[in-house]
Amino acid sequence: MTTSITLPSACDFHVHLRQGDMMRMVTPKVEEGGVSLAYIMPNLQPPIKNTEQALAYKSELEALAPNVTFLMTLYLSPELTVEEVRKASQAGIAGVKSYPRGVTTNSDNGIENYEIYYPIFQAMEEEGLVLNLHGEIPSDAQKDICVMNAEEKFLPQLEKIATAFPNLKIVLEHATSQAAVEMVKRLGDNVGCSITVHHLQLIVDDWAGQAHHFCKPVAKFPHDRDALRDVVKAGHPRFFLGTDSAPHPIATKEGPRSNAGVFTTPLVLPYLAKIFEEIDALDKLEDFACHFGKKFYGLSQKPGFVDKKVTLVKESNVAVPQHYEISATNADLGVVVPFYANRDIGWKIVSNFV
Ligand code: NCD
Ligand code: ZN
Repeated sequence: MTTSITLPSACDFHVHLRQGDMMRMVTPKVEEGGVSLAYIMPNLQPPIKNTEQALAYKSELEALAPNVTFLMTLYLSPELTVEEVRKASQAGIAGVKSYPRGVTTNSDNGIENYEIYYPIFQAMEEEGLVLNLHGEIPSDAQKDICVMNAEEKFLPQLEKIATAFPNLKIVLEHATSQAAVEMVKRLGDNVGCSITVHHLQLIVDDWAGQAHHFCKPVAKFPHDRDALRDVVKAGHPRFFLGTDSAPHPIATKEGPRSNAGVFTTPLVLPYLAKIFEEIDALDKLEDFACHFGKKFYGLSQKPGFVDKKVTLVKESNVAVPQHYEISATNADLGVVVPFYANRDIGWKIVSNFV
């Protein structure tokens, strides 16, 4: 039985670090979770839409977590220009994130609409920027589209973009379905796929009636979770860690309509050790969490990414905290409840970033 694991610090290729007090609480926890490279989502209020905003945000994050490398993204919107893509590339911005709602702004049909961004995608392809896709289409009861099939219905669009831009690196973010896994496998080497901690663990029954397990895309059927587990167990190099850790104050999770998002940042590697142990894949953890994403993004050879080491040990009674205070000085801001709060996850980090 494995009781200790030492591996390089992990890379999280999809994380929400927020702004203001929430950012100040969450950002130092990236390192606590054993992660030294964080790929930052731009859905702030207002969203990060240009290079200047992304660089300002990056400086704030670096000040809070000097040991972490931050890779920045822009929010795809009609305001994004080809010139801005070139500027972003020059400034080291890594990618552009597309959210379904932004895509549907100017049309009734979200899917058709990606074509208005083709000149942007072309510039991204030329500049080596990555396209990060939130792969869902909006619910539409008339067309029998809801959260359970919104990802699967998006996949033809992924295929279309990947075929139209064979040299554009595209990541289907936070895949949740067997259909998505099969599509990504079938597509070429320009298409990668991030998988979260929680989607390796949850199915629909776990979030129906449990607000803290509700996220977008939602966890799906047991066979979908099996497909995610199987592809990770197989060590497929285009499937890698992107936690989609997305903290929300408890009041907005437990309110009348729950905000989507699961918070995993403080314990990324312990959660993964637990899950990979359960699925008998501990030998695949390092590639999934530390190497495959970097390789897909072309970062393996880049100077400046010196691997630090993290050691985890198996232990009984490692309880996940009940919650994290958003501010040490203002209790009114409330708390964030992490994934698996109060549960024993059986693994803990004993030496970090050495
Ligand atoms: C994300 C968030 O809260 O920012 N929520 C989520 O459920 N994943 C938004 C997103 O990535 O869809
Ligand atoms: Zn996200």
